Amino acid sequence: MRAYICNAFGPLDTHGPGALPAPQPADDEVIIDVAAAGVNYYDTLIVQGKYQIRPGFPFSPGGEFAGTIAALGAGVTGFQLGQRVLAFNSYGGYAERARARARQVFPLPDAVSFDQAAAALVAYATAWFALYDRGRLKAGETVLVLGAAGGVGLAAVQIARAAGCTVIAAASTADKLALCQQAGASIGINYREADLKEAVKAATAGRGADVVIDVVGGAFTEAAVRATAWRGRVLVIGFAAGDIPRVPANLLLLKGCELSGVFWDEFLRREPDACHAQVAAILAGIADGTLVPPIHGRYTIEQAGEALRVLAERRVTGKLLICPGAGSTF
Ligand SMILES: NC(=O)c1ccc[n+]([C@@H]2O[C@H](COP(=O)([O-])OP(=O)(O)OC[C@H]3O[C@@H](n4cnc5c(N)ncnc54)[C@H](OP(=O)(O)O)[C@@H]3O)[C@@H](O)[C@H]2O)c1
Repeated sequence: MRAYICNAFGPLDTHGPGALPAPQPADDEVIIDVAAAGVNYYDTLIVQGKYQIRPGFPFSPGGEFAGTIAALGAGVTGFQLGQRVLAFNSYGGYAERARARARQVFPLPDAVSFDQAAAALVAYATAWFALYDRGRLKAGETVLVLGAAGGVGLAAVQIARAAGCTVIAAASTADKLALCQQAGASIGINYREADLKEAVKAATAGRGADVVIDVVGGAFTEAAVRATAWRGRVLVIGFAAGDIPRVPANLLLLKGCELSGVFWDEFLRREPDACHAQVAAILAGIADGTLVPPIHGRYTIEQAGEALRVLAERRVTGKLLICPGAGSTF
């Protein structure tokens, strides 16, 4: 089958398209004909050997994908051949066929397209888990989203807005901030130009944000903690800026605030029932139009390297997809 292949960890330009044997299901697995795979920031890391999971070679990146079931493992129940599904498997999705553990496969409602589903799973499920579960979000609160025009960021903007919250988006360009405002943010801060803490305080009459979505890390994390309101919740999701921050613990004491870790993959593995309920709520929100996954671009398997480069260079607003599409050998 056609696949985008990593034969050795290395820079993004050292990987490329090729052929891999089609996967066969283990007893607890489902094999999926991939219609669309979402491109995530960690795909750029996994092919460089910089992610916490280091697959054996050769492998394809691509942790979330939507399509139809092509084969079922002997022990799998509750799914059918040909069923429309959405799946998570850390890697393997930039290919015509991919495997996933059955407990990491989600039935897809007819009203949600493969593209919408593949663009949504990791971003929306992470943002939902962060805001509602770890962040205990309530209507009427103020939510600050860092990296707000990225995958997780835009999902957080939409979810928080739909929950009746005021959203402050922080991003690096005017175009990105305009997109965040279209997605529901009421206030935009260019955190390349403005002092983040001062800008948030000015936007909230000195009160600060109740909840912070932090996918960026670096120096912005401490600035965001300083920008929280009393009993604020700062949700640590990722470190797109590269540096893992250290936050002075006295700030947490003085503000009565929390710094909470968010690790969605582990939530899915450890608490699958709770995770499935959240994903079902997200798919229902997409089906009824409350949530609208922003698709920035579609690439073939052969163009997947370009998609990874565009993401790594911060040129994406929303989500990129890899669509095997034309030329399928199945
Ligand atoms: N913990 C979890 O469960 C979980 C789940 C999903 C993702 N993540 C992590 O969350 C982070 C964001 O994921 P995502 O899918 O939203 O990524 P994304 O779509 O690439 O968005 C990340 C945003 O970070 C900002 N950024 C700041 N410095 C950057 C840099 N040096 N390089 C690239 N982007 C930079 C960019 O916005 P500006 O240009 O506006 O600054 C970009 O829009 C990643 O670190 C990812 O691994 C964690």
